[in-house]
Amino acid sequence: LARPPGNAPWPQGLGRWSRAGAMLAGVFGLAAALLGWRPAIAPVVSGGSSIYTAATIERGRQLAAAGDCVVCHTAPGGSPNTGGRAMDTPFGKIFTTNLTPDAQTGIGLWSFSAFQRAMREGISRDGHHLYPAFPYTAFAKTSDEDLTALYAYLMAQPAVRSETPATQLAFPFNVRPLMAVWNAMFHDPSPYQANPAQTAEWNRGAYLINGLGHCGACHTPRNALGAERGGPAFLSGAVVDGWEAPALTALSRAPVPWTSGELYRYLRQGYSLQHGAAAGPMGPVVKELGALPDDDIRAMASYLTSFNQPLAEPASAERAGQVVLAAQQSGAALPGPGQRLFNGACASCHHDGDGPKLLGVNTPLALNSKLHSERPDNLVRVILDGIRAPATAAIGFMPAFRHSLDDDQIATLASYMRSRYAPDQPAWQDLPAAVSRLRATAESHEGTAELLSNK
Ligand code: HEC
Ligand code: HEC
Ligand code: HEC
Repeated sequence: LARPPGNAPWPQGLGRWSRAGAMLAGVFGLAAALLGWRPAIAPVVSGGSSIYTAATIERGRQLAAAGDCVVCHTAPGGSPNTGGRAMDTPFGKIFTTNLTPDAQTGIGLWSFSAFQRAMREGISRDGHHLYPAFPYTAFAKTSDEDLTALYAYLMAQPAVRSETPATQLAFPFNVRPLMAVWNAMFHDPSPYQANPAQTAEWNRGAYLINGLGHCGACHTPRNALGAERGGPAFLSGAVVDGWEAPALTALSRAPVPWTSGELYRYLRQGYSLQHGAAAGPMGPVVKELGALPDDDIRAMASYLTSFNQPLAEPASAERAGQVVLAAQQSGAALPGPGQRLFNGACASCHHDGDGPKLLGVNTPLALNSKLHSERPDNLVRVILDGIRAPATAAIGFMPAFRHSLDDDQIATLASYMRSRYAPDQPAWQDLPAAVSRLRATAESHEGTAELLSNK
């Protein structure tokens, strides 16, 4: 397996002393909170977006897209940013809040300082602690200027009355003041500091990926207390909402190592001809990134490349050709029920896996990380759910097979596809169990696709 480059510029963790200091502050904060002291920030009556220019509000719109605010803060079928979407965490259910400027149920009475404190420190206007299911741990990296634009944009949206449902967390996780200690242990509220040893483009990418983009919220594994792990665990892959968010570093299982150019294309158009398309929870991310200018997307690609060891472009294309050829050669040897299922259900669009462009972009399945991963999750999820809300129009639509194939059929199909398209990888174990587990988690998240097709 490849390793990230030895000189990879991992993000800085909390220093030993800053951690000790923060811990002390956290303990004081906790003591204060338990005594009932909640530093509320005074309400402001006229949120007054009128003081901001149209250019600032437009900038805020782009930043809100970079941060996926509307993806989380909208319930299935609900109106944008009115909250109420349930987020399942290992500790229980947390509901997103109403982000519109409604005075009673939204952020209508919030001053800029209240908004800034929520984004940097995870504390609501009235002083209660927020949970890190709200990715303030990443949003904290955002500059004051960008936070101002975001605030201006949110305050300029129509106010909609919509009550946020109460969280459903088990004790002790339902004790919000305990978050003061969690923050002291795991959270650095300071904005992004540019790394002078790197280019301006790299720093821009680092700012967006670690800040508003909150890519680590899905792609970085977490510790037992739900905090993202640091060092080489950064963006090394994790499981979220029944999907695998694959490693974005050299630990990636992609058969062709990601280059800066392919990362750019994937993030910009939702697919790469050397890797395939963005499905599941990555679809809405790409869709939202559509609001950002090309330079920002290039900067993200350039930053991610510093954690990878890409081949030069010609060698990359050559590797892709070899991978596709290996899959074609492995095909002849595998007639059986899996192949019959594939021919019956899939080949009309996917040909024999490298199909003609009848519909969609049809990248060869052999190049897709889903087939090469240690986990069958993403392949099974695509078969169960299809691609019903493609991130961009070019990708095309794939039907869901949840109702036409049963668990055993999907397991047989996945097993065949593994040996066919990733012939150098070991077979997946316990596929039928994996399929029924994934079928059970899927239903609750269909709302996301629904939301996006309504947009
Ligand atoms: C991954 C999902 C997710 C994303 C993306 C997200 N939020 Fe949230 N946000 C939440 C959750 C969940 C809560 C409620 C947390 C709680 O109750 O402790 C929340 C709460 C908040 C709050 C506190 C509101 C209050 O009434 O206390 C603010 C402010 C906020 N989010 C702003 C934003 C902005 C701005 C963006 C986009 C830049 C954004 N959020 C993106 C999940 C998300
Ligand atoms: C809500 C969770 C989530 C967030 C946030 C997220 N991703 Fe993803 N990402 C995923 C999932 C799930 C996949 C797998 C999608 C698939 O297999 O089609 C993925 C796939 C990818 C891939 C393709 C990897 C491969 O080998 O196929 C890239 C590149 C990527 N994400 C980059 C990013 C970047 C950059 C960001 C931040 C701007 C980001 N992601 C934010 C969940 C997320
Ligand atoms: C009606 C056409 C259609 C049918 C039938 C179909 N697909 Fe797809 N499939 C697509 C499209 C369009 C995409 C989007 C990506 C692309 O175009 O390569 C896709 C993507 C995929 C992906 C993800 C590849 C990637 O690039 O992320 C997998 C895996 C997949 N299909 C497997 C299957 C399997 C297995 C079957 C049969 C059970 C099947 N498909 C049936 C149209 C179809």
